[in-house]
Amino acid sequence: MSMSICDLDLVAGVCHVHLNHAGDSPMPKEVVRAVVDHTELEAKVGGYRAAEIAAGRLEKVYLSLSRLIGASDPGPQDPRDEIALVESSTVAWTRAFYSMVETKEKELLRMSFPPQKELVILVSEVEYGANVVAAVRFARDHSTINARIKWKVLRIPSSVACGRKTGLVDLPTFKSMLDGEFPLVEESSTTTYLDPKSIAIVCLTHIPTNSGVVNPAREIGEMISDYNKRHTTQAGKLPLLYLLDACQSVGQMDLDVKELRCHGLCATGRKYLRGPRGTGFLFVRYEIASVLEPSHIDHAAAPVKQVITNENSLVGLGGKQEYQRGARRFEFWESNVANRLGLGLAADRALSIGMVTIERQCKQRGRFLIEQLGAIDGVEIHHVHSSNCGIVTFAVAGVDAIEVKRRLMKGFLIGDKLHCFHVSTCPGTSTPLDGVDRDILRASCSYFNTDLELTHFCDSLKLIADESRD
Ligand SMILES: Cc1ncc(COP(=O)(O)O)c(C=O)c1O
Repeated sequence: MSMSICDLDLVAGVCHVHLNHAGDSPMPKEVVRAVVDHTELEAKVGGYRAAEIAAGRLEKVYLSLSRLIGASDPGPQDPRDEIALVESSTVAWTRAFYSMVETKEKELLRMSFPPQKELVILVSEVEYGANVVAAVRFARDHSTINARIKWKVLRIPSSVACGRKTGLVDLPTFKSMLDGEFPLVEESSTTTYLDPKSIAIVCLTHIPTNSGVVNPAREIGEMISDYNKRHTTQAGKLPLLYLLDACQSVGQMDLDVKELRCHGLCATGRKYLRGPRGTGFLFVRYEIASVLEPSHIDHAAAPVKQVITNENSLVGLGGKQEYQRGARRFEFWESNVANRLGLGLAADRALSIGMVTIERQCKQRGRFLIEQLGAIDGVEIHHVHSSNCGIVTFAVAGVDAIEVKRRLMKGFLIGDKLHCFHVSTCPGTSTPLDGVDRDILRASCSYFNTDLELTHFCDSLKLIADESRD
């Protein structure tokens, strides 16, 4: 990608090389303009009237996002009903996760016989920290609240190469989990195997926050889909669910939810997609969304006219409990309209450049960076297979990650010009299951970083690494 894209679409005055697109990526000018324009309109006419004026454009946001992830083929359903606009990827993930597991639980409790004893949540080894804590607490609390069901969270082991974990789901092991051939470590001497029918949900992080590996999301989707065909459930009953955390891949990779075969997918606005902070979205396949009971509702998600009372006790909701169509049930009434409009334009911008082009450019820059960094004495690349995208994580021997980040931001004189670089650090807590317990550095490049910027970055890191050895 030539510099002209960057010149055309970035706000003037950026004075550092931005290598933190996995954290936050600078918004294109038109996104900033849309957010500012709408905020100004709100100041003039009030937020509600401004939303009425923008209603058509707001509806378009759903279409743009569904096109971005390949959900928008014409079909019986309106693709807009597969998207919920929320505030972050974590909000999207938790809305989907809690609704999915709670609906599964209710489904099981409604069955009088046989009372299944165990329900399992499978999570990838590089699962994002927020997802892990939510899953573990849910399993703990719901096993105590309800004596009939015991929830358990199991990690899907990653493959190993050169004696190190890759961070990628080991596909044969995952298959063994679905086929009833995965041994569970028990205290007793007899080996028991994971009962595939007990698996309620598979949670996969597509690209982890702390490395550039790309999990085989499509292959996993195919295996789950085969499993669901083999264990065909009766109509209206939930299949084995597949929830994909695509926070780092949306806006960076060319995604197609039909190929991925996920039931739910979450994403954020501010990272590779270059939308405003405080935005995110959730995709839920229409037929799944329609049978999910949202874990949190307001009167917009679940409109109700009458609350049934008994004296002063509010004992129920009158009429049939109905939720908004499809994924809209995961939204609340109040929202930041300006930001949502910005998010839609960010998706349009990505689509106009082309997701195939963006993915290719990000990968190419990631590889370039990994080659250059790998050649520096004292720089250790994290994960064996990094990188298959724009994210590269590493450590500098003898220098604390936060100190490296600080020095890069302070800058280095190259020729007669000061070059400052913005990277981020990933704390061990961001991926609690992968055994990485130290802070590591993350440089994440996007399609508009130039080879020259990356070369300057590597030259600067070499200076830091050399100094630490002296
Ligand atoms: C893989 C992954 N999932 C989820 C998140 C959370 O995103 P948000 O902060 O928008 O909730 C992140 C953020 O870094 C992430 O890297």
